Amino acid sequence: KATVLTGITTTGTPHLGNYVGAIRPAIAASKDANVSPFYFLADYHALIKCQDPEKVRQSSLEIAATWLALGLDTSNAVFYRQSDVPEITELAWMLTCVTAKGLMNRAHAYKAAVAENEQGGENDPDKGITMGLFSYPILMAADILIFNAHKVPVGKDQIQHIEMARDIAGRFNHIYGEHFVIPDAVVTENAATLAGLDGRKMSKSYNNTIPLFEPEKKLRKLINKIKTNSLEPGEPKDPDGCTLFGIYQAFARPSEVDEVRKLYADGIAWGEMKKLLFEYINDHIAPARERYEALLQAPEHIENELQEGAKKAREISVPFMKQLREAVGISRIG
Ligand code: TYM
Repeated sequence: KATVLTGITTTGTPHLGNYVGAIRPAIAASKDANVSPFYFLADYHALIKCQDPEKVRQSSLEIAATWLALGLDTSNAVFYRQSDVPEITELAWMLTCVTAKGLMNRAHAYKAAVAENEQGGENDPDKGITMGLFSYPILMAADILIFNAHKVPVGKDQIQHIEMARDIAGRFNHIYGEHFVIPDAVVTENAATLAGLDGRKMSKSYNNTIPLFEPEKKLRKLINKIKTNSLEPGEPKDPDGCTLFGIYQAFARPSEVDEVRKLYADGIAWGEMKKLLFEYINDHIAPARERYEALLQAPEHIENELQEGAKKAREISVPFMKQLREAVGISRIG
């Protein structure tokens, strides 16, 4: 059986990009009898970007409710909170000790933070950068390697981290023997990088997201805010590079996408296209949104699911960690 694993950082409300990039393919995979699915709330990752405890708590609830509302079958999938599996952070330290600092110097998230300091005229390029941000890819490698995941469904922005996990696993295996599977990233075509309201990648850090389960009225408002060019109704338009089209394409069937391409060629008005997109997405998510609203009112049910998941996860992580400790020479003496 192939192990499929992915996580979402608990720093906000899940958005359309999280859904099409990671959650949707992960739920589809979990319905395959030949897959062993592991999906989790990356709450220790949240501390890297967010020091507001209430926000982390609320986000954990919302992300967990999202997975369940979308039909994750927890009798098959192991669904857990990263912090409930302490072997993950323990493994992160072991991996830290085989990871070259130079590898971390090349991580996009760290480099972007340095670049921002430099552009802002800071004398210290590392100003405000914590060790959490710097070594973030190691914690992510531990998430993946502790369950020996074969496949990791993610958006394009995470590919570098999976490559780093492969590097780190290879390094550990080379020194201590073959303990880890080398994981592969799985990126959905047409949904690798969904654009947000302003046309940049949809991201919590850009404040340009469309939350997946936004109530109907607000969803319509947000979609109406998506930036377009100034072409008038009747003028032919280019679908490629258009945010509205990109989002539509990530949701609709290929035949429907072809139809909309024709509408662009015929000069559909932006207002019309926004209406079409809103109606499509709203119809698509309405049933899950109802379940989501209900789940938010039943946090104890969600908590039970997570506790069950942590139990199943630890049945694997505890003995595996024991094996790894022995491999590195940390075990009982007598
Ligand atoms: P996070 O929480 O930023 O995003 C969760 C998932 O959503 C994908 N995604 C997108 N996909 C397409 N278009 C977008 N605009 C878009 N925005 C986000 C992300 O690529 C990701 O797959 N470090 C990870 C969480 C994590 C993880 C892991 C993932 C921690 N440990 C182990 C996989 C395996 C993160 O911050 O994702």
